[in-house]
Amino acid sequence: MAVQDADTNLLNLSFNEFDLKLKEYAKEFNVPIIKDGGLALLEQTIMLKRPKRILEIGTAIGYSAIRMNRLIGSEIYTIERNIDMYNEALKNVKALNKENEIHIIFKDALEAFDDVKNLEFDMIFIDAAKAQYMKFFNLYTPLLTKNGVVFCDNMLFHGLVLDEANYDNLSRSVRGLARKLKAFHDELLSNKDYKTSVFDIGDGVSISIKL
Ligand SMILES: C[S@@+](CC[C@H](N)C(=O)[O-])C[C@H]1O[C@@H](n2cnc3c(N)ncnc32)[C@H](O)[C@@H]1O
Repeated sequence: MAVQDADTNLLNLSFNEFDLKLKEYAKEFNVPIIKDGGLALLEQTIMLKRPKRILEIGTAIGYSAIRMNRLIGSEIYTIERNIDMYNEALKNVKALNKENEIHIIFKDALEAFDDVKNLEFDMIFIDAAKAQYMKFFNLYTPLLTKNGVVFCDNMLFHGLVLDEANYDNLSRSVRGLARKLKAFHDELLSNKDYKTSVFDIGDGVSISIKL
């Protein structure tokens, strides 16, 4: 099927070509998008759980939002605080004529709760500032349905998070991020309201099912 609209560069591309274009753009402009391994698990999770509505924190150029929506037409709400990323994501979503299914909220996710507070989500995908994962989780999981899924990317952060013996060799800022992710990782695994598994795939992903 061909992509139908908007930007001339994106006209008449197959979905595969469209995805490749987005990946090339991400590579050229150093936009961190989900790695193929993490995406494969994300897609399988969607196929298994069949979420009607997904909240994504961290849109970037809309790559994962588009990929998540495409599988079974899940409605996506996705939050992005960077104006350039937001504009690029909007352009990509418009190129696919998906503005009615993929809603992009231009805000800091820590200030966007009111925009979605009346909605329920079957899945939450956390993929934004790593130091804030715990805050995102605490803020948005009250909107998660029973048996809903929280999927987090970058949980192992280049393998640094669980390698505590090496923390002293990291720069202060990277060590801080690793510590925060480790604290979040431990909190998730000990949270009795969720069944969590962490997978060493892509940059490390966690899947937590609300019990
Ligand atoms: C890893 S990228 C998202 C990649 C995207 N999910 C994908 O795989 O295609 C993280 C994005 O989150 C955004 N971000 C970081 N912290 C945020 C926050 N507190 N609120 C909203 N967006 C945030 C960044 O600007 C960046 O575009």
